[in-house]
Amino acid sequence: MAGDTATLTVADIAATYDTLASTWDRWSTGRPDARPEWVRRIEPFVGAREPVVELGCATGVPVGRQLADRYRYIGVDVSRRMIERAGELLPAAAFTCADATAVRFPGQSLGAVAAFGLFPNLDRTCHAALVTELGRWLRPGGVFVGSFTALDVPPRVAPEWLGAGPMQWSGYAADIDAQMLAAAGLDVLDAVVRGPEPVDGDLPTVWYLARRVG
Ligand SMILES: C[S@@+](CC[C@H](N)C(=O)[O-])C[C@H]1O[C@@H](n2cnc3c(N)ncnc32)[C@H](O)[C@@H]1O
Repeated sequence: MAGDTATLTVADIAATYDTLASTWDRWSTGRPDARPEWVRRIEPFVGAREPVVELGCATGVPVGRQLADRYRYIGVDVSRRMIERAGELLPAAAFTCADATAVRFPGQSLGAVAAFGLFPNLDRTCHAALVTELGRWLRPGGVFVGSFTALDVPPRVAPEWLGAGPMQWSGYAADIDAQMLAAAGLDVLDAVVRGPEPVDGDLPTVWYLARRVG
């Protein structure tokens, strides 16, 4: 796809989020927050105590906390400091410090995957493979809830984001997202354009609820 250029490394992104870990909760929850409402939307599709993974979980606040109350929650984030803080805040939950594009879960083993704000930070050339992979993890009828940029955004780098270090955002327009989700066996139940919000690099996002068919 045209317009893709060299972007930050995963280590660069992790380092910036490491620096933000101690202030992230105050910053990310200090605004009208639709995440709890969208997390509740998975309830009709996911049984109590089913395994649920959150990719890009940061400190587990508020999404991990909400998911851990009801499901067998596993949070994944590439920032070690975010994961350390998540472990302090939610000691009973499971966390893994890993690149979301490299983690693996068994096929059809999860009731849901959540990913708020993660995809816009990933180089968009990784999106299709990760969507395919998470579609493989979901059992039939399981759901994905999460966000992508609402526009075609070739990789865009801010050299100094929130005073912490460099950050990047990228993504595709909604028709490409729709193709990716469909190719992964995910049937879109709802898609809502939101933002722009500072947490997403001041880009509008589209939030999806999608169900694994088959
Ligand atoms: C915009 S923040 C969103 C955090 C959280 N989901 C929220 O809603 O507040 C993006 C998160 O994704 C994590 N992240 C970025 N790239 C990642 C990658 N390749 N693998 C795993 N986590 C990543 C960052 O460390 C950060 O915690």
